[in-house]
Amino acid sequence: MDKNVTMEKIVSLCKRRGFIFPSSEIYGGFSAIYDFGPYGAELENNIKKEWWKNMVQLRDDIVGLDSAIFMHPKVWEASGHVAGFSDPLTECRKCHSRLRVDHLLKDVGIAADEKMSDEEINKIFLKNKDKIKCTNCGAKDFTEARKFNLLVKSNLGNFTEDWTKDPVYLRGETCQGIYVNYKNVLDSSRVKIPFGIAQIGKAFRNEITARQFIFRTREFEQMEMQYFTSPDEEMKEYEKLKKYRWDYYVKSLGIRKENLSWKKHDNLVFYAKEAYDIEYNYPFGFKELEGVHARGNYDLSQHSKYSGQDFTYVDQLKGKKYVPHIIESSAGVGRTLLAVICDVYTEEEVNGEKRAVLKFKNNLAPIKAAVFPLLKNKTELVAKAKEIYDNFKIKFMCEFDDNGNIGKRYRRQDEIGTPFCLTVDFDSLQNNDITVRDRDTMKQERVKIDELEDYLKKKLGE
Ligand code: GAP
Repeated sequence: MDKNVTMEKIVSLCKRRGFIFPSSEIYGGFSAIYDFGPYGAELENNIKKEWWKNMVQLRDDIVGLDSAIFMHPKVWEASGHVAGFSDPLTECRKCHSRLRVDHLLKDVGIAADEKMSDEEINKIFLKNKDKIKCTNCGAKDFTEARKFNLLVKSNLGNFTEDWTKDPVYLRGETCQGIYVNYKNVLDSSRVKIPFGIAQIGKAFRNEITARQFIFRTREFEQMEMQYFTSPDEEMKEYEKLKKYRWDYYVKSLGIRKENLSWKKHDNLVFYAKEAYDIEYNYPFGFKELEGVHARGNYDLSQHSKYSGQDFTYVDQLKGKKYVPHIIESSAGVGRTLLAVICDVYTEEEVNGEKRAVLKFKNNLAPIKAAVFPLLKNKTELVAKAKEIYDNFKIKFMCEFDDNGNIGKRYRRQDEIGTPFCLTVDFDSLQNNDITVRDRDTMKQERVKIDELEDYLKKKLGE
């Protein structure tokens, strides 16, 4: 990461250049929800496309799925979310901020275990009360901690007044849609164990504290792949998946290795065999980007118990019967997008002026090429530039820009990370060629317009 990168600069660039806006901003915003603007939506799509390519298209053993956001409420009982998907919450008596007790404890160097009861966490909280300060106002006066369930409730399909007694839930993670469709996929496609099911979709959590921009939001998108294995091959497949996911960040997204690290979970849930997170070095420190976990057969066993369906797999090859074990890869689209932007953000001096540039890998760049006429008021130049733009926009995301001077147009394209700027000038009309300016080196070269398509295809494919 560029040493100059700060969250303030990232948030400001994202707003100024149309990557990310606070939700419902005209009404003062809506806490922990964000909207993706024109370039943010392109970047999101490119990230999802790359993930799908790596996790489905290139894999003979993984198939895709798109399950619904709403599911039978029993799904969330079986998964353990209704009983146990909660964070410990406290309220500052002075400023009334609601805060996560485990975060407050962490700030003073005390690790709280997810599995602790209200009683246990309150004991530690009370014991350390003198050290702990409200992150908003600095006061040291808090209400008792209580567990707050993160599932978001809805009245979908319930037309009574007291629907809160019998709610349905917006999904808290996308993988439950995969588990409940395990048998459908097995019976309808040609997959055999070991195989995976991948999907991308929205998830919702009533996060108590929304911090660090899009890092922790209440509505977000997940990219999850659940891989079904035999019990004796679970850990072998787990090691393979860990390597595959690491390589994806480095090779497919171009994230610098030194900004990534593995973090082992020390306090495993009882059914898990092993759990690691891939962390990214955000401006606020190394934080979880993706979880790669070996989950045993807990998920299918639970759904079998609650639904009465038998998920035993008859393994013809091994001559064995078992409930498949699952290894999962679970990443957030927003956290990946934030990691990518932080990783490519660069500030440079050019002729005494500062330029900010997003040096995206070409596959992620929202706009691949921008076409300019040198002067806005010369109709021949504008017509030629438009003709080139119309030809290229069919092939990839392009922009036409005739606003301001060339220098300003370059700065704008640098800030949104466009790899190539193509300028039509008077020589172009004579020689049928064009100036191609490279975002990173800022070098310019003349390319024949007839050869431009091959030139760009080659460069963008690199
Ligand atoms: N199925 C496993 C699961 O959902 P998780 O660690 O709770 O595990 C997986 O979430 C990933 O989803 C995280 O690594 C993160 O990238 C993303 N994620 C989770 N909660 C999020 C939130 N509130 N805002 C943005 N992304 C989130």
